[in-house]
Amino acid sequence: MNGPARIAMRLFLSGCLLAVAGCAGVQSALEPAGREAERIGQLFWWMVAGGAIIWVIMVSLTLYAVYLHKGPHPERLTRWLVIYGGAIVPTLILIFLLSFGLAMLPDLVRPAPRGSMVVEVHGLQWWWRVRYPRPDGEAVELANEVCIPVDQPVEFHLASEDVIHSFWVPSIGGKVDMIPGRKTRLVLHPTKTGIFRGTCAEYCGTSHAWMSFYVRVVTRDEFDRWLARESQNSKTPELPAARRGAALFLSSGCGACHAIRGTRADGKVGPDLTHFGSRHSVAAGALPHDSASIEHWLRRSRHIKPEVHMPAFDMLGGEQMNDLVAYLEQLQ
Ligand code: CUA
Repeated sequence: MNGPARIAMRLFLSGCLLAVAGCAGVQSALEPAGREAERIGQLFWWMVAGGAIIWVIMVSLTLYAVYLHKGPHPERLTRWLVIYGGAIVPTLILIFLLSFGLAMLPDLVRPAPRGSMVVEVHGLQWWWRVRYPRPDGEAVELANEVCIPVDQPVEFHLASEDVIHSFWVPSIGGKVDMIPGRKTRLVLHPTKTGIFRGTCAEYCGTSHAWMSFYVRVVTRDEFDRWLARESQNSKTPELPAARRGAALFLSSGCGACHAIRGTRADGKVGPDLTHFGSRHSVAAGALPHDSASIEHWLRRSRHIKPEVHMPAFDMLGGEQMNDLVAYLEQLQ
């Protein structure tokens, strides 16, 4: 192999490696952790296999025509190639793939069996309101995080409070649009426990790319314990810094947008923060959950998420900021 060819080959191989590396992780449709994702994964691999076979045949024919058989081809053979290769074979392959895909549809759009768990998720620019309806008609509300039990179907009721968003957890299942004024449904049946990442799959404004969330799939017992904890009001802060932070939260007006159950903060515009300290991310998947990120978000919200409704609180002094972060972190 000469110099440029070797470089081209190395670039190609590195590209393949990078592409394959992107197929793993908490947000991969190619590592299914749910029944729906398994079906979609099968369809994907059938499409890849079909495409690969057609590609090999086409490249072989091209090489044959260019290098091995340079002269004119007999008219009968070329007509045969055009009719079979150009019309009949592609039609048969497309019919097969279409039937294969359509046969999956009933399974993917069937409602969950009666009595299945329901989780309501609303999309907003650029975060997720998550509600677990309770038998008494009330609901446990949280944000940017979903917890569901493994090995049972869960019906998501999806809606939007502003523009069109799309709810997608690639590892567990397909995606469904969240449309203002309408309720759409999606059934997910997780088969593995773990933490998975979901994201908004419909362009919904400047910070669309910063609209993600985490899904925790746990055993039924763990789920019941989790829901019982989420149903409780927030803890009264014990440490002096957190107590000062709680007062600052109310005096700075945070409670006009955010609710923290058990306090005077009852805003409905922004995410419910009652158990904020136990979540896996800050600002709907934009930042990891640690004190440095919380401070970064409070000071520079619009720098991190352009056009976000939450104003930056950069006027707070160092001490005040530490108190506020201490309060938010202990909201377990
Ligand atoms: Cu919400 Cu894109």
